[in-house]
Amino acid sequence: MVNLEQIDKNRIPRHVAIIMDGNGRWAQQRGQERSFGHQAGAETVNTISETAARLGVEFLTLYAFSTENWNRPEKEVQALMQLFIESLKEEVLMKNNLRFRIIGDRERLPLDVRECIDRCEADTDKNTGMTLVLALSYSSRWELTHTMKVLAQQVQDGTIRPCDISEESVAQQLNTAFMPNPDLLIRTGGELRLSNYLLWQCAYTELYFCDTYWPDFSANDFYQAIIDYQHRERRYGKTREQIQ
Ligand code: IPE
Ligand code: IPE
Ligand code: MG
Repeated sequence: MVNLEQIDKNRIPRHVAIIMDGNGRWAQQRGQERSFGHQAGAETVNTISETAARLGVEFLTLYAFSTENWNRPEKEVQALMQLFIESLKEEVLMKNNLRFRIIGDRERLPLDVRECIDRCEADTDKNTGMTLVLALSYSSRWELTHTMKVLAQQVQDGTIRPCDISEESVAQQLNTAFMPNPDLLIRTGGELRLSNYLLWQCAYTELYFCDTYWPDFSANDFYQAIIDYQHRERRYGKTREQIQ
C-alpha cells in the first residue's frame, strides 16, 4: 500500500488522462457479459474521480467511448449508452463540486444521452473543483480532421491566412482547447497503445501502463501512477543540465 507521504503535494499533475480499458475481460473472467464489466467500471469512475479531486488534480479526462467503439455489437453499444445516462448524476457532480465536460462527436450520440450531457455541463459550469472530462464518441483523428475543416473554412472566408496557422491556433480549435495538455496518461488493462486518444495533446505527456483491469483499478493504483510520474524527468527536448 502507498503511504500518502510518498506523494509530493507540490508535484501533482494538473491534468491526468486515463484510457479505462479491460472492462470486457474483467467480466468474461467472471463468466459474465461484457456489459457487467462496464457497470463495474462506472463505479471505478466515481472512486478515481474522488481520489484525483482530493489530491488536487485540476483536470481528469476519461476515455469512455471511442469513435471506433461504434463498431462494437449493437447490444453492447446500447448498453453503454444506457449506462452513460444512468451514471451521469448531477447530484454527485454537484456534491463533489466537479465541473463536467465532454469531448467528442456529440452529434453522433443518441438524443437522450446528449440531453443528459447538456444538462450536466450547464448545471456544473460554475463549480470550482476538478474538471471531469469524458471522451465520448471521441478519437484524435476525428478531432484533428474536424479542426482542419474549421481552419480551411476560415482561410476560405478570408478571416485568416494560411501563414496565420500556428500550433496555438490549431490547439485553440481542438475540443480540448479549454484545458492544458495532459501531464500523465494512464492506460489500464495491459495494452500498450493509445487507441486514437489525445494524440496531439500527448506529445510530451508521461505514459503509464498497468495490467489491472479498469474495474479493479483502485485509489492505491492511482497513487502508484502519481508516484511513478513524480520520478520522471520531463526534458521537452532539452538536456538534463538545462532542466536542473
Ligand atoms: C473499455 O473496456 C471500455 C470501453 C471501450 C467502452 P473494454 O470494453 O475495451 O474491455 P476489454 O478491453 O475488451 O477487456
Ligand atoms: C480504447 O479501448 C477506448 C476506450 C477505453 C474507451 P479499446 O478497447 O476500444 O481499444 P483497442 O481496441 O484495444 O485498441
Ligand atoms: Mg478494450
